[in-house]
Amino acid sequence: MKFKEILKDTEAEGKEKHLPVIEIGKGRGKSEVDVVRVFVGKEVQHPNTIEHHISWIELFGVKQDGQIVDLGRAAFAPEFTNPNIRFQVPVDQFKVFCALSYCNVHGVWQNCIET
Ligand SMILES: [Fe+2]
Repeated sequence: MKFKEILKDTEAEGKEKHLPVIEIGKGRGKSEVDVVRVFVGKEVQHPNTIEHHISWIELFGVKQDGQIVDLGRAAFAPEFTNPNIRFQVPVDQFKVFCALSYCNVHGVWQNCIET
C-alpha cells in the first residue's frame, strides 16, 4: 500500500464534510501580513465530540522552484476547539498550498489550491 491510497478528497465526501478548506488573505491587518486560513466545515459543520472530531490540520506550501515546505500544524481539543487555524505565511513565495486534516473516524483528507 502507498500513503496516497489512504488520502481522501472530494470524491470520498459524504454528508459530513472533511476537506480542509484553504483561503488566502494578502496584506491583512495593521501590519499587512499574508494569512492562509485552513478550516474544516465550510458548508456543513463536522462533529466535534470526544468520539468523533477533527484532530489536527497541517499546511504545506510548494515554492516557485518546487520545494515543499511544511508550514505548520495545529492540534485541536474535541468539544472545545473548532478546526479553524490561520498561518502567517509570505504567500508570494508559494505557487500552491496543500492541507491535510485528520478525522479520528474517517481518516486523512487532502486539499490543494493554487495561489
Ligand atoms: Fe468524520
